[in-house]
Amino acid sequence: MTQSLAHIDLLEDTWARSVPYDQFDLLRRDAPVFWHEHPASEGFWAVTRYDDVRAISRDHETFSTELGSTFITDQTPETLEIMRMTILNMDPPKHSRYRRLVSAGFTPRMINRLIDRIQERGLAIVATVAGREQIEFVEEVAAELPLQMICEMIGVPDEERHRIFDWSNRLVGFQDEDFRTSEEDGQMAAAEIYAFCESIAADRRENPRDDIMTALVMAEVDGDRLTSDEINMFFVTLVVAGNETTRNLIAHSLQALLERPDVKADLVANIDDDDLWSSATEEFLRWGSSIHNFRRTATRDTEIGGQSIKAGDKVVIFYASANRDPDHFIDPNVFDPRRSPNEHLTFGGGGSHFCLGANLARAQIKIMMREFLRRFPNVEPAGQHRRMRSDFVNGIKYLPVRLNA
Ligand code: HEM
Repeated sequence: MTQSLAHIDLLEDTWARSVPYDQFDLLRRDAPVFWHEHPASEGFWAVTRYDDVRAISRDHETFSTELGSTFITDQTPETLEIMRMTILNMDPPKHSRYRRLVSAGFTPRMINRLIDRIQERGLAIVATVAGREQIEFVEEVAAELPLQMICEMIGVPDEERHRIFDWSNRLVGFQDEDFRTSEEDGQMAAAEIYAFCESIAADRRENPRDDIMTALVMAEVDGDRLTSDEINMFFVTLVVAGNETTRNLIAHSLQALLERPDVKADLVANIDDDDLWSSATEEFLRWGSSIHNFRRTATRDTEIGGQSIKAGDKVVIFYASANRDPDHFIDPNVFDPRRSPNEHLTFGGGGSHFCLGANLARAQIKIMMREFLRRFPNVEPAGQHRRMRSDFVNGIKYLPVRLNA
């Protein structure tokens, strides 16, 4: 365990090495609402206990995403204005009016209708790597299903999906030297996405189809059509949220099983046990928590776990810490595919911003992991995996494996 609070460091270099579970253990025990300095911005309150993370997520009146966005670092007024065009950075009631525009596409009923497509695509991805001795799991397998499905749902042609992969890496991986080389490169990615989104939107205005882009160009909020900026921000949100998170979760899931061959053998031996695979999927989610944190800004003076918080303070909730809180999970540091109950907070603590894509993500993780292991039960590591340097996304950027098939 990290010995003292003086050594707490929850900034990006720490995450590049590993998820700082030892720091979280100390914080939950000794300073569950801890004041953390930031070198480039105002400091923030780091919130690490399950109950507090959940309570903050459910109280949008006291803890706003609109005031200061969901990122830890402070934004310029101009950037903030753009960020507030995404539902993540809107407070109700505006939030509810915009979320409604896309939420119909993500209900359990809609996802159930997509299950056959997800299964079909999952099998095709496995078939593409079959016959190879060694593969790079992240790009060749984990990235593919989320990318293909979100492109299909939004209405992006299949052959364009690798441009989306590249753009979302450059947007999300901006703290990692492998993805972003310069400030200009980030801006260029944003401009390219904008032009691309505009061209699809223009096409759908002329040729409506049954996809999310058509829903966006036809949508009205308070009698007005969405602006091009608003449509673009929706597009970026869905592409990034629907992509990076699920890809990383699948990569962490395989990594967890490579570290625990006994659990892998158990899942392989029970490959047709649907209940076990559903509960294993929840454990993959608890374990891999693909978003480290989101920020809120206090709208008024308040208190969390006995700590006074002033109006305007930044409050950052750490999902991976909540998911290992021993007050909520028995043996939290053990990967148990039969864990029950398993009310992890990987998709958020259940408030108005609760992950829109939770059902889609669950279905993809379960199908991709199951079909991959069905085909390659003897998969083994073929070298060291590499993590992404980011204080926001729990990313694995490189995971070489030998298929042994
Ligand atoms: C394993 C995969 C995923 C994880 C871990 C994840 C996690 C999260 C988290 C933690 C939040 C914020 C919750 C809150 O503030 O209470 C969120 C929101 C969101 N997620 Fe996901 N997500 C995943 C997959 C997806 C997918 C596949 C989509 C689909 C497009 C998606 C779309 C969104 C959107 C649009 C929001 C914003 C919702 C709002 O502000 O109302 N996510 N997600």
